[in-house]
Amino acid sequence: MPQATFNFPAGFLWGAATAAHQVEGGNTNNNWAAWEAEPGRILNGDRSGLACDWWGGRWKEDLDRAAETGQNAHRMSIEWSRVQPTPDHWDEDALDHYREIMRGMLARGLTPMVTLHHFTDPLWFYNQGGWELENAPELFEKYVSRVVEALKEYVSLWVTINEPNVYVVSGYTGTDFPPGKGDMNAAFTVLRNLVRGHAAAYQAIKRIQKNSVVGIAVNYRSFKPACAASPFDSLLARFLHNSYNDSFTRALKTGELHFAAKHVAVPEAAGTQDFIGVNYYTRDLVRFAPLASRDLFMKRFFPKDALLSPTGFIAHVPDGMFEALRWANGYGLPIYITENGVEDAADELRPRYLVEHLHQVWRAANFNFPIKGYFHWSLVDNFEWERGWSQRFGLWGLDIQTQARIRRRSVDLYAEICRQNAISSDTVQRFAPEAYPRLFPEA
Ligand code: NOJ
Repeated sequence: MPQATFNFPAGFLWGAATAAHQVEGGNTNNNWAAWEAEPGRILNGDRSGLACDWWGGRWKEDLDRAAETGQNAHRMSIEWSRVQPTPDHWDEDALDHYREIMRGMLARGLTPMVTLHHFTDPLWFYNQGGWELENAPELFEKYVSRVVEALKEYVSLWVTINEPNVYVVSGYTGTDFPPGKGDMNAAFTVLRNLVRGHAAAYQAIKRIQKNSVVGIAVNYRSFKPACAASPFDSLLARFLHNSYNDSFTRALKTGELHFAAKHVAVPEAAGTQDFIGVNYYTRDLVRFAPLASRDLFMKRFFPKDALLSPTGFIAHVPDGMFEALRWANGYGLPIYITENGVEDAADELRPRYLVEHLHQVWRAANFNFPIKGYFHWSLVDNFEWERGWSQRFGLWGLDIQTQARIRRRSVDLYAEICRQNAISSDTVQRFAPEAYPRLFPEA
């Protein structure tokens, strides 16, 4: 069998990603806490509850695990509703708590990447209209300034907003996330305000910390025409790519926001990103469906020949990772893979998913795309939004009754890759032999 080692660039960041509401537990003052309390909103009536008990201190043991298994970075988020529980109150204890976590990361040799907004909004903000408010960007900027002042001695790598496209599509064009609006006009207002909020945050961070590196994390979904010869399928795939994948980062480059058939100038946003953060999970095929008026005349489905994750949420399409990175490279900025992973409690698909996606990252690095790091979603099973606890994305499993962590095999696989800064054929042979022929083909 052919043998080889695929080396990653020197100084590559290897980590996992988490988000405040999904791991902290005990969040009661944000829109998700309220949403979870409404009957029918979350699958099986699940609640985030204690989550992974990070607020209670279990971040220490989880970050120990990360560091002990070769990781050298961690992406986490700050919960706005803890830092600013009411419009006129800043909680210094909460800021101290986050400062302690930052020190904890550095002490463990983990470079922090900090996300300032990861889906949740404080209740006071949400109840006034949230990101539909004209002054939402200013309110966000105030919070961001406070956090950056507090953490600047520890952190210089910032994600202002996580997946603004998912936030808008799930909560405003769709109904899975709060406020469940299903309203295209509100969606566009929110998208525009998120762009403005990012731009304001970017300038504020730069004022406070000159050497900061600031970007967003976009959810990149690969869209391909179901039939390559069909001009309709191709047009629809392109339309989805432009609206969903490209609109936000494009606005941060050009100052022009295009979404679906709408357009607005946001000049203050031009030139406000230092890197592109890519969250890649999967691909959809798109087919023109003349009768499906409610679904914008299209049907989307996973490629028939792709392996599916256990809950059918993700199709295993590693070359979509390469496509995402080629798209990101078009911006001429450094690139971080800010999320990638699969829900798989039994850890059957994850080893293969991990090595085949990282292989594509390695390929992209060999095209000299400036890829700086990879953050696996996630370190430990956590609360999966409207899908509750039904999906398990962790390298480590979590028993939510006892808070026990369960070491999955992928932990050791990922540890070898992080420690070697490489994927070796030996590692693949032992952990994901199914991936061997694809990664190391016979001549
Ligand atoms: C992307 C989101 O940023 C994260 O919060 C979520 O848990 C993962 N996708 C998996 O669904």
